[in-house]
Amino acid sequence: MKRYKDIFSTFHAMYRLISTSPDMKNFISGISRLYKKVFDADEVVIICKNVDFYGFMKFRLKDKKQFIKKGGVSIITRGERSALIKSKEILLDNKFFYPFTFEDTLGTIYLRRKSKNKHFNELEKKLFLSISEEVSVGLKIFNLYYEEKRMMINYIKSLTQLLERHVPTSYLHTKNIFRLLKAMGKKMRLSEVEIRSLEHACLLHDAGKIQLPSKLLRKQKPLTGKEFKLIMKHPRKGVELIKDSKVLKPVIPIILHHHERYDGKGYPYKLKKEQIPLGSRILAVIDTFDAMYFGRPYRKRKNLKEVLSELEKQKGRQFDPKVVEIFLQVVKRENTKKYLRTFA
Ligand SMILES: [Fe+2]
Repeated sequence: MKRYKDIFSTFHAMYRLISTSPDMKNFISGISRLYKKVFDADEVVIICKNVDFYGFMKFRLKDKKQFIKKGGVSIITRGERSALIKSKEILLDNKFFYPFTFEDTLGTIYLRRKSKNKHFNELEKKLFLSISEEVSVGLKIFNLYYEEKRMMINYIKSLTQLLERHVPTSYLHTKNIFRLLKAMGKKMRLSEVEIRSLEHACLLHDAGKIQLPSKLLRKQKPLTGKEFKLIMKHPRKGVELIKDSKVLKPVIPIILHHHERYDGKGYPYKLKKEQIPLGSRILAVIDTFDAMYFGRPYRKRKNLKEVLSELEKQKGRQFDPKVVEIFLQVVKRENTKKYLRTFA
């Protein structure tokens, strides 16, 4: 690392990682590789605190292999724990430690060269400190993001509880449904973020009904045209509730279009086929399955055979045939059937 050109490109690469990484895992993975390359290190270990729903994330790059662990304090060794509480960097001839701090301790890095003869030079020491300071800023940004996310999750939870009391007809059996959703997501190769957004959409898709008269939502008799027009407003009203949250941004289109139909006869925009966001097409199938199999206060439960044949019938009409096909493959798995039978 002698040339200044290399130093500039290192900082440029780091800025790109901070601004474009979709989550902490990608950020740390990219940063570890950068440290390894720039310092010609044989081992890089990065530990971060308060990551998403996990307490810690440990990323280790050794030779050409990488290891990642997420979990509680048990994933951290005693030595690493003591490194986490150190407030000062340690720069040895062939080893570097740095505590990432920004108001609080956010994590730590340990970097080493195997050969004791391959000493780090002064420029490398200074560069290590500068890069690590920037990484602390990057970690702080992710921490703030996760903090907002945690706040939003609590907001969603209270909103859902309120919704269950106010709109019992919209109650989704989330625990059971999330299991099916995750299996579908894996089969469809959706990313973690897409699956999480779908879970949030499952919880919040009918949140807009909170703003509709409770009497209307509890009505047992068929709705009048005027009443149905009011009901049709709930996707837009739901979006109003979450539109200012950056974290819930990917959830907005799913909620807005969850009553569109594949044949274009749905609402609010009468979108057709692939014009409808994939998340909304998935939610439409899941929601209908939930209502038919687990029942609603106004609707009697159907058995699994009846539910699946109803979904088959709606292929290409109400639902995306490909999504129904994947859903059926998931539901017909022996372990899923066994699980669903426990509710029969
Ligand atoms: Fe709805």
